[in-house]
Amino acid sequence: SVQRIKLNNGVLMPEIGLGTWNANKEGILFETVKKAVDLGYRHFDCAKFYANQVEIGKALKEVTVPRKELFITSKIWNNRHRPELVPGALDEILEELQLEYLDLLLMHWPFASRLETNSPEPPLDEMDNVPIMDTWKAMEALVDSGKVRAIGVSNFNKDILQKMLPQCRIVPAVNQVEIHPYNQSFELVRFCQENGIAVTGYCPLGGEMVPVLEDDIIKQLAKMHSCTPAQVALSWALSRGIIVIPKSTNELRLKQNLEKVALTSDELAMISKIEKHKRKVDPVRYVKHLEWVFHEDKAKCPL
Ligand code: A2P
Repeated sequence: SVQRIKLNNGVLMPEIGLGTWNANKEGILFETVKKAVDLGYRHFDCAKFYANQVEIGKALKEVTVPRKELFITSKIWNNRHRPELVPGALDEILEELQLEYLDLLLMHWPFASRLETNSPEPPLDEMDNVPIMDTWKAMEALVDSGKVRAIGVSNFNKDILQKMLPQCRIVPAVNQVEIHPYNQSFELVRFCQENGIAVTGYCPLGGEMVPVLEDDIIKQLAKMHSCTPAQVALSWALSRGIIVIPKSTNELRLKQNLEKVALTSDELAMISKIEKHKRKVDPVRYVKHLEWVFHEDKAKCPL
């Protein structure tokens, strides 16, 4: 079974989860979630913004695994950052997923948009001026209510976290960011792990603009281990203590993504050399909204 990582509040989180972003396009997410549970997945990474939680909830309702063995993450979307909107945002997520509680609730991005916009890249007049700590305090209260076992953040950089930590009653349990061999984020990962914040890596296999699985070194290592490039990429992240959430709707690949290979320190060093600082989710497009990213931190990029 999938190993679990102990979060800073003692909650155990499976180190491999199923990503669900864009997974509804095929219209087969319901079957995928059920299949994933059969194959041994217990951790599902969801978000309000992915607009597919109802389908995931229906599938989770049908699985026979006890709720306490599952680990369900979801994320508050940017247009629910106002503290008075946060409890309702969670209730909406719980209703969609048909759950009584979440294992982990994340703040999806370190900036807010107005309630009526759903755009991930809203124009300036659709941004909202909500300090991150206001949203965070409202999330802290949700832990007290028992509706979430842990809270965390996503797409937060080191500067934002550094400003945030002294003000937190509850230190974020997780920071979910894009991590793969072409965007390794060593400094951010070190900072998080030194401060008790577990790191979840999204897009762990890269993607169209970041062809990690086509990389010569990754392919060479896969050959040496008689495994696939995906398994090399995932095992590399896991060896750094990073939780991974690869998305697949294909049974063979779902299965494959649960199987770790043991990479040697020399092999890990080979991978550390192929860094390209290439992201699938490029934060540069948010730079125009920097004044909303963190009030005291206007001059810095959000990632
Ligand atoms: P598919 O659903 O057909 O398997 P990421 O989570 O890093 O964004 O990657 C998701 C993409 O990678 C999807 O297109 C998925 O396609 C593909 N994928 C998932 N697992 C594997 C794998 N083991 N080998 C190759 N491609 C994979």
